[in-house]
Amino acid sequence: MTDPYAPADLGPLRLRNRTIKAATFEGRTPDALVTDDLIDFHAEFARGGVGMTTVAYCAVAPEGRTERRQLWMRPEAVPGLLRLTAAVHAEGAAVSAQLGHAGPVADGAEHRTPVTPSRMVSPLALRRTARPDAAHVRRLVAAHAEAAVLAADAGFDAVELHFGHNYLISAFLSPLLNRRRDGYGGSLPARARLAREVAIAVREAVGDRIAVTAKLNMTDGVPGGLRPDDALRVTRWLESDGALDALELTAGSSLLNPMYLFHGTPPRSEFAAAFPSPALRAGLRVAGPAFLRAYPYRPAYLLDLARRFRAALSMPLVLLGGVSDGATVQRAMDEGFEFVALGRGLLRTPDLVRRMAADPHEEDRCTHCNLCMPTIYRRTECPVRTAEEAGA
Ligand SMILES: Cc1cc2nc3c(=O)[nH]c(=O)nc-3n(C[C@H](O)[C@H](O)[C@H](O)COP(=O)(O)O)c2cc1C
Repeated sequence: MTDPYAPADLGPLRLRNRTIKAATFEGRTPDALVTDDLIDFHAEFARGGVGMTTVAYCAVAPEGRTERRQLWMRPEAVPGLLRLTAAVHAEGAAVSAQLGHAGPVADGAEHRTPVTPSRMVSPLALRRTARPDAAHVRRLVAAHAEAAVLAADAGFDAVELHFGHNYLISAFLSPLLNRRRDGYGGSLPARARLAREVAIAVREAVGDRIAVTAKLNMTDGVPGGLRPDDALRVTRWLESDGALDALELTAGSSLLNPMYLFHGTPPRSEFAAAFPSPALRAGLRVAGPAFLRAYPYRPAYLLDLARRFRAALSMPLVLLGGVSDGATVQRAMDEGFEFVALGRGLLRTPDLVRRMAADPHEEDRCTHCNLCMPTIYRRTECPVRTAEEAGA
């Protein structure tokens, strides 16, 4: 029986245990730079026992942000990132940077045109997007590699490449969003080319200095989007390329079906109230039930899908999605997953890993109300925990 709380290797990296804090955009970078608040946020999970925490969504280009406050990787960000990585290391955990480009999920802030595989009108940026030509695609690949080098220089132990949720690379994988007929669209191998080129370029750039993982959709959960059979073929190619140390398996589309990522109660009115733009607020009030659909929550709600990937692949896999109690963490190990990633469970209980290590029957105190989701527009938190602490 694999002990989730014993040290484990992730590529060149040795983690103190097999738990990873999943990326949850923090809303703590008002000037797109590291703050003490962001450092404290991650130091708390490190103190709470996680093997590795993940700094959410560090964009590889300014137009690749989902909102203007989001950090993007540039030399100016490095001093703050160095302080952050040192603070996490001081608590005994490792730290990963999630690197990505939002593609169709970008907000088009500061009049920057979102980049998508094929031209479309972005419902989030409310404007027409740009289709990158081959030279632009090469620049996007290079931007991922440069961001990874910056992360290694800033003391990160790993980078997690964002290949999910219909962000840019996931949008290239989607037959719905990618209608190109050049070498980056059309057949599945062509749609997968950008993901493979990015993984290889990042690995070549960082060598064995840090671990390289990717967070990849098993399905978009959208009619016409990436389906499990095709995602499975993509993961086989990624495995045979040998550039990645692990794959974190996710699902859903931040653009078209966000609740598929989460399951649980859709926070429709809270989301509508939190949206920064009046036009988006009005749109969400009308389209809310179709956009934020309800998927019943159950522990390890992505496990049925993930098992198919576990059976087909030999590379290390990270199980994500409703893995936030002691029994489910152990179950993930018993099902052959090398690591688990926890999002909402840790927002609710930052020292959950320490608690589970002490008591394997530790329960999940997250209610999956998903009220943490709309808090990303101000400062991400679990409102249930905040209310509890205010009352204490
Ligand atoms: C408030 C919040 C913010 C999130 N931000 C990100 C993000 O920046 N990048 C990402 O890949 N996933 C993000 N996610 C999704 C989580 O990483 C994870 O995939 C999802 O919450 C399911 O895991 P869980 O059941 O352990 O919460 C976010 C989730 C929440 C709740």
